[in-house]
Amino acid sequence: MLVQIRSPREEPLGEALVDRQARQVRYLRVSLTDRCNYRCTYCMPEEGIEHRARGELLSLEEIVAICRAFAAWGVERVRLTGGEPTVRRGLVDLVRALRAIPREGGGHLEVMMTTNGELLGELAGPLADAGLGGVTVSVDSLDPARFRRITRRGELARVLAGIDAARARGLRVKLNTVAIAGFNDDELASIARHAWSRGATPRFIELMPMAGGRLFVPGELLPAAAIRAAIAEGLGAKVVADDGAGVRGLGPATYWRIAGGPEDGRRFGVIAAMTENFCASCNRLRLSASGQLHACLARDEAGDLRAALRSGRPDALAVAVRAVLGRKEDGHRFQLDGSGGPRKAMVTIGG
Ligand code: 5AD
Ligand code: SF4
Repeated sequence: MLVQIRSPREEPLGEALVDRQARQVRYLRVSLTDRCNYRCTYCMPEEGIEHRARGELLSLEEIVAICRAFAAWGVERVRLTGGEPTVRRGLVDLVRALRAIPREGGGHLEVMMTTNGELLGELAGPLADAGLGGVTVSVDSLDPARFRRITRRGELARVLAGIDAARARGLRVKLNTVAIAGFNDDELASIARHAWSRGATPRFIELMPMAGGRLFVPGELLPAAAIRAAIAEGLGAKVVADDGAGVRGLGPATYWRIAGGPEDGRRFGVIAAMTENFCASCNRLRLSASGQLHACLARDEAGDLRAALRSGRPDALAVAVRAVLGRKEDGHRFQLDGSGGPRKAMVTIGG
């Protein structure tokens, strides 16, 4: 059943989402499921994962209603995540419905997706037709055996074919690589090269201690400076800040440029929550598949938008969102020893 909410434009609270640190929320990450067809070792345990019952999930209509409200409050872009968003039934219709939502500043909501790429070969065409703008695909290794080891289930060839299908259908593509010392530090440069050769932008992510730090091995954290050094060495070139100081895009990545050698001018991103904290420019909120709104990836506090929506009270959603925003902390408490993170696992919130 479609839950009716009054248009947020009529509500007294219908203004931009600005927090206590004057950060404006322009970006909403929307988890469609807490299930995944992979089992990446840093993201979830092999066995014993508790999933939400299907009845606890927001319906697709509820997701659209929530995104419509956020768009009226100035959100410009949503990113569909999981678990793995492609395992949620109705994904293509959802993308089409979200793309029809008008943005406050004109035009329509942008819709992006983060995926492991396993099903992208089949889905890239329909998703592009539905208006998806781009995909970010996780690729932690270009060696099929290593790829299988880190994902426990994944087949590299399928994912690479999925990336090519996405590009062929005109989707913007970014590659996400979690940089792990002793696992893929010897292939960061080749991953970057592969991305560039396919028209994709590579991004390297520092390992974060999610899930109470249970899946985090401190010795595996490769700091951003070491990531850049490994890429420079692997390419036999210099890495320089893209525009003076490592330019930030809309998100948490800083961008860097290759200077010299055959890859001169190519760019890559680094997402360094652990050693180059970017909380001061955080512009996002996160919606879990069951409708919990999280102000921070690294904290467990959340507000229940599902309950607000289902209460039927016209202003309940706005009140619940403002309450979460009002409690958005100025930063995370991740520690290099793996403490200070949230109890929630990455798979429940999708990065
Ligand atoms: N630390 C850093 N990145 C992670 N991801 C999943 N778990 C972690 C973690 N503990 C990445 C995925 C995906 C993105 C959404 O987050 O590989 O690329
Ligand atoms: Fe699935 Fe992504 Fe977690 Fe890997 S990192 S198990 S692909 S949700």
